[in-house]
Amino acid sequence: MKLHIQPLDRVISATPGANLLAVLREHDIPISYSCTAGRCGTCRCKVIAGNVADTVNPGHVIDAEGGQYVLACTSIVTGDCTIEIPEPDEVINHPAKILKATVSAVDRVTHDIVRLRLRTAKPLEYSPGQYATLQFTPAHVRPYSMAGLPGDDELEFHIRVVKDGLVSGYVDRELKVGDTVRVSGPLGTSYLRTKHEGPMLCVAGGTGLAPVLSIVRGALESGMRNDIHVYFGVRSERDIYCTDTLAGLAERYANLKVHVVVTEGSDDPALRSGIVTEAVAADWSSLAGWRAYLCGAPPMVDAATLVARERGIDTNHIYADAFYAKT
Ligand code: FES
Repeated sequence: MKLHIQPLDRVISATPGANLLAVLREHDIPISYSCTAGRCGTCRCKVIAGNVADTVNPGHVIDAEGGQYVLACTSIVTGDCTIEIPEPDEVINHPAKILKATVSAVDRVTHDIVRLRLRTAKPLEYSPGQYATLQFTPAHVRPYSMAGLPGDDELEFHIRVVKDGLVSGYVDRELKVGDTVRVSGPLGTSYLRTKHEGPMLCVAGGTGLAPVLSIVRGALESGMRNDIHVYFGVRSERDIYCTDTLAGLAERYANLKVHVVVTEGSDDPALRSGIVTEAVAADWSSLAGWRAYLCGAPPMVDAATLVARERGIDTNHIYADAFYAKT
């Protein structure tokens, strides 16, 4: 049985019923993966032709443009096929781990955002922009994005406290310094791509700033000199946080520009009033050749994806992480 691998234009052989990720790895095909259990999405491949059965998502995942995708780690090859692997030059492999961590700080940074810092016994390897699942107790488990970088002493997370929220309420009211937290990860495909020289658009809504901070710091501190435009959208001025960190980075790195956009408006001349995605659309008539990192609530991410596509960003270069409302 033959597998044709694009865009490498390589043909490899496999036995029917073999796990797709195992076959790719056996033949040294550069494929990103992390959880190996169908959860993180990192190993998503496009099926161009032929037979691959995804045991977790039978019938393949169909995207908006009609492509058929499978998760290599949960798929078996059942016949000759052509597979497109994502960005072979941007491969990341951080095998998912479960680590024990201790709360080193838990602080309110706005009226409804808590910044949580955890110290792990062993370092968590991840790429900027990825997330992990935090288990505070067996009944209190949620995914949150890392706001820092892998080399930092502590893991940092930004948690919006939702009214009557089960997990966020627990973090806000009961979690304390010294408590133990189980960290599982890394997860997620919206991580920093380092092998391009074009500009980067980063749009963050609310605590979507956490992965954006990680991506921006990751880019700047690894020496990327791409122009980076961060658009941070908040509802009102009291929702603004971490702008001192962004301002400090912008002072050190001339290629970083930060735009804070307040939906309800502001009298502060340093801030912009309006909808964050409209600010992006107003500023740029073309974004061809850019990469986009979009993090926040689903309506914001959807609107930003639309703007990015309309302004010419290749769909494959839009990395979106929507935070679905959970308690
Ligand atoms: Fe396949 Fe995580 S490695 S979904």
